[in-house]
Amino acid sequence: MENNLKQKFAKIVSVVKETVSVSTLILGLPEQDNFAFRAGQFVMIGIPGFGECPLGISSNPADAQKQISVTVRQAGELTEKLNQLKKGDCVTFRGPFGNGFPEVASNLILIAGGCGIAPLMAVILENQKRKDIKIQIFIGCKDAATLIYKEKYKQLQKTCDLSVALEQKSLLKFGFISGSVINAIAKKKLVADAKVFICGPEAMYSSVAKILLEKGIAPKDIYMSLEKRMHCGVGVCEHCAIGTKYICKDGPVFDYEFLKNIDKYKI
Ligand SMILES: Cc1cc2nc3c(=O)[nH]c(=O)nc-3n(C[C@H](O)[C@H](O)[C@H](O)COP(=O)(O)OP(=O)(O)OC[C@H]3O[C@@H](n4cnc5c(N)ncnc54)[C@H](O)[C@@H]3O)c2cc1C
Ligand code: FES
Repeated sequence: MENNLKQKFAKIVSVVKETVSVSTLILGLPEQDNFAFRAGQFVMIGIPGFGECPLGISSNPADAQKQISVTVRQAGELTEKLNQLKKGDCVTFRGPFGNGFPEVASNLILIAGGCGIAPLMAVILENQKRKDIKIQIFIGCKDAATLIYKEKYKQLQKTCDLSVALEQKSLLKFGFISGSVINAIAKKKLVADAKVFICGPEAMYSSVAKILLEKGIAPKDIYMSLEKRMHCGVGVCEHCAIGTKYICKDGPVFDYEFLKNIDKYKI
């Protein structure tokens, strides 16, 4: 059985500087590992001497045996160090952890706030060429300067119904819309018979749930990827408890049928 507590090393194949404080690290993995993951799962990435932190995998699961990508936003000391790494440097990694998003068997609505688009990008890359489903994407961000994956959106507009909502009007360009992601959802006719996957700052979750319920989407069809400080990543240390469950082991993705009973996510 694979030991999830054992760290391995991955070499940085390239770095994409997304914004002043966000970088995407493309990590080469040892081929013999046969690494595989499900969109929405995360890995623990670290630097010896500085610790490790959970990061969602943002690349296509189909490419996992060769390489994976993680997008890191500078929050504290470790993520600042990760943002300074260059091609050829090594990081430690463990995982994948968590449940990930459910299998995609129907239309899809993806809602991201800020860097929350990172794990959703794995869902997009895996499903964007499918002809049997429609994908509608809403991305909310403060302004164009903090928007990540900018270079991907023109291409995405060809296969998906994409709305990028920027809260700061002065920087609007490339056809982005003005205002909050909630307004963008409110104004749009949502694709029918869809599952909704959401990832973003905690503060947006109850307002997103409210508008989706108002638009007739059932709690069981709404999936939210949650974040909390983690230590072990395997359901031992209790740091990431949420109700009767653990984000690291039972999540990070939970359906709203479960979350609607947790105070923080109630509407
Ligand atoms: C399942 C999961 C997936 C994640 N995916 C990503 C990702 O794809 N990209 C990314 O940039 N970040 C992601 N994060 C958040 C990331 O793990 C934290 O930003 C990181 O642990 C901060 O480490 P640090 O040592 O640099 O900062 P610290 O010194 O540990 O923290 C700096 C500040 O950030 C706050 N903080 C730390 N961790 C979290 C957290 N999990 N949630 C909310 N606030 C926190 C602290 O309270 C503190 O104020 C994810 C977290 C989880 C739980
Ligand atoms: S991080 Fe230790 S229980 Fe979840």
